This record gives sequence, C-alpha cells and structure tokens, in this order.
Amino acid sequence: MTTIQTFAGLGLGLRRSHYHDFLEGEVAVDFLEIISENYMVAGGKPRDVLSRVRERYPVAMHGVSLSIGSAHGLDADYLRRLRELADWLDPLWVSDHLCWTRTSAHNSHDLLPLPYTRAALDVVCDNIDRAQQAMGRAMLFENPSSYCAFPGNEMEEWEFIAAMARRTGCYLLLDVNNVFVSAHNHGFSARDYIAGLPLERVRQVHLAGHTPGEIVIDTHDREICDGVWRLFAEVSDMLGDAAVMIERDDAIPPLAELLAELDIARAMQQAGAKVAA
Ligand SMILES: [Fe+2]
Repeated sequence: MTTIQTFAGLGLGLRRSHYHDFLEGEVAVDFLEIISENYMVAGGKPRDVLSRVRERYPVAMHGVSLSIGSAHGLDADYLRRLRELADWLDPLWVSDHLCWTRTSAHNSHDLLPLPYTRAALDVVCDNIDRAQQAMGRAMLFENPSSYCAFPGNEMEEWEFIAAMARRTGCYLLLDVNNVFVSAHNHGFSARDYIAGLPLERVRQVHLAGHTPGEIVIDTHDREICDGVWRLFAEVSDMLGDAAVMIERDDAIPPLAELLAELDIARAMQQAGAKVAA
C-alpha cells in the first residue's frame, strides 16, 4: 500500500460559517479538513467553494460513513464516490473512524463501537484492505469515543488498533479528546492507551471539546478542556510531525476563537519539541 508522508501543520475544519474567511482572508492555518460526505456530489456550490479553498490550502478528507467495521462489508457506491472526490481534490489523506454505522439494511448515522475480538479484527482488516484497494491509497483511521463496551472483548482498544495498523498498513488519526472521553467513561489510563499505539503511524491529531459529566459526551461544541490540553502537552513530543487540528462541529464560534486555540496547540508542540531535544 502507498506511503503517506508526514505533514507537520496546524489546521481547522472547513465549516460553512467560515467559508468567507478562508476564501477572502489570509488565515494562519497550514491545512483544512473537510467532512467528505458534504462534497461527494460533483458540481454545485459545495464543490465550487472547495475548488477555491483548495487553491489556497492543502485539504484533508475526513469521512463519517465508510462503516469500516460493518460485518456486511462496504458500500461499493459510497467507495466509488469517495474515490471520485479524492481523485478530484488530491487531498493530504483520506480518513474515517474505527466504528460501524450501518448494516446492509439500516444506516444508524452514528459512529458505533465495535467488539474488540479477533473475529471483529478480521472483519475490519478485510474491509480496510478493500477500502484502500478501492481508493488506490492508504487511509487513516481514527480511534473512537465510546460510552459502552462489549462484555466479550478479547483485547484493549489500543491493541486492536495496533494490530489493525500492522496487518493492513493503514495509518492513524489520533483523536486526543476521544482518548480522554473513553478513558473517563471506561476507566482506563489515557497515557497507557496512547503509549500502546504505533505512534509512527499517526499522521493527524484531533483536539476537541466535550460535555463533562458522569459519562463524558464527545460533543465538539465547546472549547478544549484543561484535561485534554494536559494530555496533548504530555504526548505531543511523541507524535513526530503529525498534523494537528481542532474539531468544532456545533456552536461554531468566530474563527478568531479557534485560531486562539490553535495558538495554544502550537505553543505546546514547541514546548514539547524543546523538552525532547
Ligand atoms: Fe475526531
């Protein structure tokens, strides 16, 4: 499978309320991430905006509907349309989530957790092989956030991800907030989780806000909390040249607020690099 080169930039998600800023202004980001499904119809306004954005910034594709854990296999038409977008856009990379979203008869539109069993690992690896073949490139897969676990799990989530990367040659998108959320909800150590991953396969990092509570909910609707920042600061020097971005999907603030958070990430990266040197 193809190699995905590192891209050591800081970026944001491309959201409709910021279209004007990115098309007209000089915004201090190194790349933008799109939600792939919002641009999978050729022609029309979304593609027009994206073509103009692409002239100014490198773009990463991030999908939510591949359903890489589906025991019923992958949707060939979805893969064809995803490939068409990727061939048109020439993105930094194409990512999706380690989860399942549908069966052959029903689409939940939710990123649902998988059982971490050897049988599920076989299904996921077969699907990744097929997806990467269909896309003509290696892909990135993101660690999920979750609120429940299967009683028959045979390995830890990070062991499942490490085996998946080793067997398929895929790369990883490390969502630090998802690790924080799941560590709280399931009672594992976020540091052990990250240390257990093949970090040399990480090409992108997500940072995001969540809703605190007895069960922490991954809402992407507020600023990044101190605990996620602390976790990122602790691990940033282990992540090499992975690109880092802030995910905000709801209650989207003016761009200046997100750029201020990106400045914090930049400062932490630089501090981490100094400590590591
Ligand atoms: Fe994420």
